[in-house]
This record gives sequence, structure tokens and C-alpha cells, in this order.
Amino acid sequence: MKLSKIFEEKPERWGFRGDPYFWDYLKEQAESMEIISPEELEKWIKEEYLSLSGKPLTDEYMDFAVIEQFAHGGMSSGGVDNTWWMEEGIPLLKSRLVKLLPPKNMLETERLILRPWQETDAEECYKYAKDPRVGPMTGWPVHESVENSRQVIRNALMVPETYAIVLKETGLPIGSISLKFHSDLAEKDDEAEIGYWLGVPYWGQGIMPEAAKELIRHGFEDLKLARIWAGYYEGNEKSKRVQEKLGFKYQWKSENLPVVLLNETRTGHVNLLTKEDWLAKK
Ligand SMILES: CC(C)(COP(=O)(O)OP(=O)(O)OC[C@H]1O[C@@H](n2cnc3c(N)ncnc32)[C@H](O)[C@@H]1OP(=O)(O)O)[C@@H](O)C(=O)NCCC(=O)NCCS
Repeated sequence: MKLSKIFEEKPERWGFRGDPYFWDYLKEQAESMEIISPEELEKWIKEEYLSLSGKPLTDEYMDFAVIEQFAHGGMSSGGVDNTWWMEEGIPLLKSRLVKLLPPKNMLETERLILRPWQETDAEECYKYAKDPRVGPMTGWPVHESVENSRQVIRNALMVPETYAIVLKETGLPIGSISLKFHSDLAEKDDEAEIGYWLGVPYWGQGIMPEAAKELIRHGFEDLKLARIWAGYYEGNEKSKRVQEKLGFKYQWKSENLPVVLLNETRTGHVNLLTKEDWLAKK
């Protein structure tokens, strides 16, 4: 989305006569700019003001600049009012920008939204988590009822960096993906372990690689991680394949791993993606 969107609706009142011209000037520049953060927006407007007027945009009372190209006659012609821009123009534009930004703790890909789980997702969660091909592969038992799914959402899924994978097309959750900290594999503060599952009807469409790619980017870029671990149990060829496609490198296998929730032991395989490997593959 272009930054010019926030300039579309003009304010009801201005400071001096040059203000609407400065507004239109910014709008024109913004037509070729993508959305930026509110802080970057303020910085950019101040830079434009400085380069046009030769003086800084400050919040000093009654300070203004006369910008020749915005002078079209009348009193205060070409005058761009500091106070109006600092107290009204910039705050208005920033508040419009905030509404356009994706809400915090949500991630987005071409087909998917990753957002926190909510208790109201229980029915959709149960629809997929009751299938024996999903949970047991991951190490947890099938969900027994919608109420059981609700409990799992409340106790295990509503935690930081665990996301419902929502299909944009329907707006409904179809799986889950998470970064876990201080897990068996991710021992250090700058490490996390990725985990995921997807409803069976959606397998084989590259959905998990798409979701994981974005969560991994978030992990390395936003959370400043250095290493992301991933494991899969012996025989889980689909998950092995997902990790390969994401660029994870094989580390080791562990035999007789306790799968606590299922009361059994299995062989586990461990993969690792370092920030260096991820950057090299990008
Ligand atoms: C593992 C899982 C998340 C994969 O998600 P996905 O979005 O289907 O991933 P992909 O579309 O990239 O498919 C991965 C591989 O699975 C295999 N596969 C996909 N759909 C398949 C199907 N319907 N039947 C058989 N194999 C299939 C393919 O080998 C594919 O690899 P390819 O792209 O090289 O052909 C999903 O199968 C799942 O949720 N499984 C159960 C839970 C689980 O195992 N979680 C991981 C725990 S470590």
C-alpha cells in the first residue's frame, strides 16, 4: 500500500496558506513510497521541510517558513506553519498511518495471516486436531471435544510467539505454528525451537513452508535470534521435507526420547538453521 493513502482526506483547517501546498507536495512524493513507521514518517516530513525551506521544523510557537514554490498570493502566502504541522498535521498523519499498519503480534504472507489463538477458535481447532494424523505425529494426543480444544488453546496455545495459521481466503484457522524458548533443544536466550501442525485438508500446498518462512524471518530479524532448532520424529517424512525446504541442516538423532503426553518413547531427529545459513539462503 502506498504512503499517499494517508494524505487523501484533507484536514478541515490549516495554519498558514502554504500548508495545503506542502501537504500536496508530500502526497505527490508519497505516491511512490511504501508504508513506513510513524517515526520514519515524522522524520521524513521534517527532512522535506528542511530541504525546501532551509530551516528545521520545530515546535517553536509562531515559527514558520516561507517556501517560494508554495506562494500563490494572499496573506501568509507560501507560509508553512510549524505549530500547525507539529501539533495537528503530523499527529493526524501518524494516527492514520497507525490504522494502516498490520496490528502488532500478527504476521502476514501471501495466503496467510499468523495471529494469536483465541478461545473462539475452539471449534475450528477441534475440526483438525481430532484427526489422528495430526497431533500424534507431533507428540500430543488427539483432541476429544471442542471443550478439550478450548482448554488446549487456553493453556498451551495462548502464549507468546504461538500463532494460529489463518487462511486469508476464509478468515479461519487451519493450523498452528510457534517459536518456543528454553525448550529441550533451544537452551540459550538467543535460540528458539519451531513447531507446527496443519489440518489434513490443507496438506501438500506448501502452506507450512510459507508460514514457517515468515516466522523464521520474524525470529531472526525482529526477535534477533541466532539459531532456530527443529525436530521431527522418525518416520515423519512430511515434516522432514518441510525443514529441508526451509534450509535447516541435519544435526543428530536421539533414541529412546520420551514422548510424555503419549506415554511412549521414539527416535527423534534434530535440525538447525543458523542466522548465517538463513542469510546466505535468502
Ligand atoms: C508436516 C506438515 C506441517 C507439512 O505441511 P504442508 O503444508 O503440507 O507442507 P508441504 O506442502 O510443503 O508438503 C511437505 C511434504 O509433504 C509431502 N506431502 C504433502 N502432502 C502430502 C499428501 N497429501 N500425502 C503424502 N505426502 C504429502 C510431500 O513430500 C511434501 O514435500 P514436497 O513438497 O517435496 O513434495 C503437515 O503434514 C502436518 O501438519 N503434519 C502433521 C503434524 C506434524 O507432523 N507436525 C510437525 C511435527 S515435527
